[in-house]
Amino acid sequence: MNVLLLGSGGREHALGWKLAQSALLDTLYAAPGNPGIAAHATLVGLDATDHAAVLDFVAGHDVGLVVIGPEAPLVDGLGDALRAAGVPVFGPNKAAAQLEGSKGFTKDLCRRADIPTAGYVRVNSRTEAEAALATTFSYPLVIKADGLAAGKGVVIATSEAEAAAAFDAMFNSGDAPVVLEEFLDGEEASLFVLTDGVTLMPFGSAQDHKRVGEGDTGPNTGGMGAYSPAPVLTAELERQAIERIVAPTVKAMADEGTPFSGVLYAGLMLTSAGPKLIEYNARFGDPECQVLMPRFEGDLITLMLAVAKGRLAEIGAPAFTDATAMTVVLAAAGYPGVPTTGGAIRGVAEAEATGGIVFQAGTRQDGDDLVAAGGRVLAVTGLGSDLVSARDAAYRGVDAIDFADGFCRRDIGWRELSR
Ligand code: AMP
Ligand code: GLY
Repeated sequence: MNVLLLGSGGREHALGWKLAQSALLDTLYAAPGNPGIAAHATLVGLDATDHAAVLDFVAGHDVGLVVIGPEAPLVDGLGDALRAAGVPVFGPNKAAAQLEGSKGFTKDLCRRADIPTAGYVRVNSRTEAEAALATTFSYPLVIKADGLAAGKGVVIATSEAEAAAAFDAMFNSGDAPVVLEEFLDGEEASLFVLTDGVTLMPFGSAQDHKRVGEGDTGPNTGGMGAYSPAPVLTAELERQAIERIVAPTVKAMADEGTPFSGVLYAGLMLTSAGPKLIEYNARFGDPECQVLMPRFEGDLITLMLAVAKGRLAEIGAPAFTDATAMTVVLAAAGYPGVPTTGGAIRGVAEAEATGGIVFQAGTRQDGDDLVAAGGRVLAVTGLGSDLVSARDAAYRGVDAIDFADGFCRRDIGWRELSR
């Protein structure tokens, strides 16, 4: 079978790496891909926002499965266009991708389905926000832009002045949909669940580090490192999260005529009252995918086709190695602000020789040189019998890479390692 993978980040490199291991694969195409993905795939210059061009490519290259990596094409309805043409696709339709695309949509669904989550109000203007603040909330107050914001649309305001500054930013060009939320106390963990709209298949847990600085300080990023599994999400807590959060969500989406098909990534807060939903993503996490794929021992095409074709009930639970995986992101100086691009990256082969798995993200081939082309540049995943050895393996790989214009956090996993 020929497969088309859409996206260009570390998540898509991890997906491409795993798809390439499938016995079912003839040719893997990736658009736009990156130099790391090119080791497993034929890169094609397709624009995912041009649905007609994607459909033409699929028809012309006998593609039997399209895997949509990032959220933007999902929210944009590329899944609908492919499904309408009868093409098996891994990733939800536009209406179901609202679980990620609109925080207000998800909060309202939680209210309808009685799913544990932070108390909230939806507002559309600064006047409404200030009125809600005056009567409903205390600090810290969580203020979220409603739509996709690449991890940058959330402010946790600890005072009226901070809330005012957040409102200045969020309403700077007039009225906008915003969600105000109660602050949840606890530890965060991520749960991944595959679903074809009816059947649920848990697909592992992870914890990531969203802040740029060591000790989880500084601005939020897309994620500076992650590990899987997350021991803090015990089997019992995972059971509760599926029963009280994920299963009612999947059922509500199906009942409302907008079934969710793909991977549902639940960001959970483990509170003293049990797991509560912070947010959903409609795709794999980045860099969480770089720790899930190396642990998954099954055939990814078989699994994704079962999701795409509504046949998840017909296949067995996914097999994962008992090993722990950790991934450490190397970012370009300046990230998550304006990154310094163009810096040379050497030592990828040396990092792989240590046993690390290098997943490229913001890289570009410049003649014979690999150079930085974005904020998060690559990630190195290590596997080990426990988190300490996974960490040591990941940093052995990181230390073999020579990237003068880059940086990484040296403390990935600190919370779990200190327990
Ligand atoms: P989100 O984009 O909704 O995942 O939010 C980004 C980050 O903000 C989360 O990973 C949490 O660290 C934090 N956050 C979001 N909502 C809340 C909340 N209600 N209470 C506490 N922290 C939150
Ligand atoms: N690492 C967080 C995300 O993918 O949304």
